[in-house]
Parts: sequence; structure tokens; C-alpha cells
Amino acid sequence: MGSVMKSIGIIGAGQMGCGIAHVSALAGYKVQMYDLSKDRIEAALATINGNLARQVGGGKLADEERASALGRITGSADINDLAAMDIVIEAATEEEAVKRKIYAQVCPVLKPEAILATNTSSLSITRLASATDRPERFMGIHFMNPVPVMKLVELVRGIATDEATFRTAKDYVTTLEKTATVAEDFPAFIVNRILLPMINEAIYTLYEGVGSVEAIDTAMKLGANHPMGPLQLADFIGLDTCLSIMQVLHDGLADSKYRPCPLLVKYVEAGWLGRKSGRGFYDYR
Ligand code: CAA
Repeated sequence: MGSVMKSIGIIGAGQMGCGIAHVSALAGYKVQMYDLSKDRIEAALATINGNLARQVGGGKLADEERASALGRITGSADINDLAAMDIVIEAATEEEAVKRKIYAQVCPVLKPEAILATNTSSLSITRLASATDRPERFMGIHFMNPVPVMKLVELVRGIATDEATFRTAKDYVTTLEKTATVAEDFPAFIVNRILLPMINEAIYTLYEGVGSVEAIDTAMKLGANHPMGPLQLADFIGLDTCLSIMQVLHDGLADSKYRPCPLLVKYVEAGWLGRKSGRGFYDYR
């Protein structure tokens, strides 16, 4: 067993940060969220409350559990409020420069024994670790979206991650009632190494006129039993995130089979990022 962790800090109150806060609070951890503005924190708390309420509505949770989980989550725009946390999980934008800047700010604030983890979906854990003051207490804890529903978490060690850190992270994931798989530190790990080329291929299928958006999604939902069609899933993940993962695969593995589809590039350039921007392959406005 790793050492007992009681509090979780979360950097970034977006889709993933909200989900990680949600499941951690439900498991009994005290959660401290950090983002750049109080408005973002307030929006995150409202989102988390809404998602907890969905679970109450679906009979998966009692209303008292919703209220007590919510009561365990606080947030602020002051990074110093992460000082007492046992594990801090960075769930910021999928851009290496952004993450490096955050590590430079947060490392001096953390307890020396605190674990710093990243929810990166594709970047090198070893390289990110080198931007911290604690490569041995740094690793990848990669949640899937939507976090409250998806059962898997990928655990990724960097070259310097020590065994106690790994065990603590594994214990934490187990307490969330999720299944951990171990992936080696290669671009996009396991899930996204397989999922994103499938999504990229679906976009090529659209780009080349093989089928319409609806035809492609229906084909994969009914023909391969996927819960969502690949284009709907791309909108759900965020087209900017899809593009950055394809770029990491393309750059990191130097194989043309990972070339991002030009249509994906164009949509991102247009600001059509999927659900979060109101428009992607579907219109959400
Ligand atoms: N919080 C809490 N509960 C949620 C939720 C959320 N954010 N989203 C959905 N749910 C619950 C719903 O309340 C519902 O609960 P009940 O069964 O109790 O009613 C249940 O989940 C199913 O939801 P819906 O009925 O609304 O819709 P659905 O049946 O179509 O399921 C889905 C929605 C779970 C998202 C499903 O479509 C699905 O599994 N899609 C694929 C998701 C996927 O592939 N995720 C991985 C993305 S890749 C990734 O995350 C890695 C990365 O780094 C990019």
C-alpha cells in the first residue's frame, strides 16, 4: 500500500477537472480546485452539482451523498491554497508550455512529500516531470471523459517515478472504484493511441465524401456497437484536444498514418471545437 492520502488538489476546472473533483469528493477526499478566475470555479461547482444531481436522478446516489460530496469541494484562484494537498492533479489545457508554466508556479507551493500528477492524454510524462522539482513523485493519472461514468484510469510512470508514488496513485484510483491499467510512457499511451486514429479516420471518411456525418456516426453506433459515433465523440472530447493528440502521435512516432486530417485542422482553425464552442461536426447552438 502507498501512504494514505486524504486531500486532492486539482489544477484546471474544465471538463476533466470537474470530473476528477466529482469522483474524488464522492470517494470521501477533501478537494481543492484551482483555476485562473473565481468565475471559472463557480461555474465548475455548478457543473459538478448538476452531474451529481444526474446521478441522484438516475438512482445511483442519495441526495445526502450529493450534498456531502459537494461540501467537500472548495476552489479558488489562489494557487497557494493547494499547499496542504497530498496529491495535486493537473488537468489544464493539453499544451506542454501551459503545463510547464503551471508546474513552475505550483512546485514551490506544494509540501515536499506531495505527489504531483498530470491528467495529460498524450504528452511525455518523463519530459513533463523534468519541468518539476519532483520527477520521482510525478506521474500520469489519466482519466476518461465523462469521468463519473467511465471505469478506466491509465497510470503512466515517467522514467524517474518511484514505486511509492505509483502505489499511492494506484490506491487512490482503487478508492474511486475505477480500474487502473498501466501504460508505458509512449505518445498518447493506450486508449488514445487506438481511439484517436479511429476518430481521425472517421474525419477522413467525411473529408473524402464516403459518408455524411450522420451516416458515419450511425454506421459505427449500429455497425460496431459504439455508444457514440466517432464524430459525435470527437465533438465531445473537443476538436482542439483531438488535433493536439494526433499531432503528438504524428511528431512522436514519425509515421504518416497519424497525419491529422486537414478537415480537423480546418475546423480547429475556425474555432469549431465541438460541444464546448457550440459547433463542431454538429451544431449545439
Ligand atoms: N456525470 C454524471 N453522470 C453522467 C455524465 C456526467 N458527466 N454523463 C452521463 N452520465 C450518466 C447519465 O446520467 C446516465 O445515467 P443513468 O444511466 O443513471 O440514467 C448515464 O450516464 C448514461 O448517460 P445518457 O443516458 O445521458 O447517455 P448515453 O447512454 O448516451 O451515455 C455516455 C453517455 C456515457 C457519454 C456514452 O455515450 C459513452 O460512453 N460515450 C463514449 C464515451 C467515451 O468514449 N469516452 C472516452 C473519450 S476518450 C477520453 O476521455 C480520453 C482522452 O484523453 C481524450
